[in-house]
Amino acid sequence: MDIKEQIKRLKKEKNAVILAHTYQPGDIQDAADYVGDSYGLSVQASNTDADVIVFCGVRFMAETAHILSPSKKVILPAEDAGCPMADMINGDDIVKLKEKYPDYLVMCYVNSTSEIKAHSDVCCTSSNAVKIAQKLPPEKGILFVPDQHLGSYIMEQLGREMVLWDGFCPTHVRIQPEMIKQARELYPDASILIHPEAPRACRELCDQVLSTGQMVQHVKTSETMEFVIATELGLIHTLQRERPDKTYHPLFSGLLCPNMKKGSLEQIVSALEGTGGEVITLPQEIRQKAKYSLTCMLELS
Ligand code: 13P
Ligand code: SF4
Repeated sequence: MDIKEQIKRLKKEKNAVILAHTYQPGDIQDAADYVGDSYGLSVQASNTDADVIVFCGVRFMAETAHILSPSKKVILPAEDAGCPMADMINGDDIVKLKEKYPDYLVMCYVNSTSEIKAHSDVCCTSSNAVKIAQKLPPEKGILFVPDQHLGSYIMEQLGREMVLWDGFCPTHVRIQPEMIKQARELYPDASILIHPEAPRACRELCDQVLSTGQMVQHVKTSETMEFVIATELGLIHTLQRERPDKTYHPLFSGLLCPNMKKGSLEQIVSALEGTGGEVITLPQEIRQKAKYSLTCMLELS
C-alpha cells in the first residue's frame, strides 16, 4: 500500500492527528492534519479530541502538547529531534538567575525545556511575545530566556528593559546583514520577511519581522507578489501551498534546521503502529508547573 494511504488508514484506526511545524519537510507537511507555528500547534494540541497526537517537530513542541493534553498519547516520531537553543539553559542556570533577580518575573520562550517552563511565570511564542510582555506589570523586572534575539526584539518594540539569557538559534544566527543587502539588490520588488530569532542587524534591514504563522498570514493577505524568506526554508513549502500564485526566494539555500529535518513518513507509520518514536512522558511536578506558564500564555494571547 502507498505510504500516504497507510498513514491515513492508521490515523483513522488509532483516532490520531498529525501536527506538523512549518519547518518540517514538505511530504510531512502534506501528510499532516494541521501545519502551523508553535503557537497554533499548542492551541491545536489543547483543543483536539483525538486520542493520539503524532507531533512532527522538535522535542519541546511535543512536550508542550503533552503538558497541555496529558490524557492524550503524544508521540515524537523523530525521537532525536531537539532544539539546541532550548538546551542552552538548564535547571541550575535558571535557579541561579532567579536568585540573582529575586523580584523579577520569568518569561520563557516556548523553545525551552519543560523544566525551564516549570520555573517560569509565563511562556510565549514568537507570535505573541511582544503582546505578552506588554501585559506584564510595568513595575516588575523581566528575565527573558533563552533567546537573546527574540528578547532584544521585544525590548526594541516596547522600549522596556529586560534581563536576557544569551541563548540563540544556531540556524537563524547564520543570517548575515550582507545576505539581506544582496537579496535586496537581486529582488528589488520583493518584500523581505525575517523571523525575530535573527540578529537585530539583520532584522533592521528587512521589511517585516514575523513569526512563521504571521508570515503565512501576511503572504496570504498582502498585495505583494514576491517575497524573500529569511527563516527556515520549510516555510516555503507552506507558503507555496497557501499561495501558489506568488514567488518565494530563499535568503540562502542552507537556511535549514537539521533537527526539523530529522523526521520521515516511515517514522510516522512506526509511531502510529506503536513500534517507533517516543511516547512523551514527564514527571508530574514538572508537567503541572510548566502547564501554569503555558496556560498563562494562552490566556494572555
Ligand atoms: P515559530 O514560533 O515561528 O513557529 O518558530 C519556532 C521556531 O522554532 C523558530 O525557530
Ligand atoms: Fe530550535 Fe532554531 Fe531549529 Fe527553531 S530553527 S527548532 S529555534 S534550532
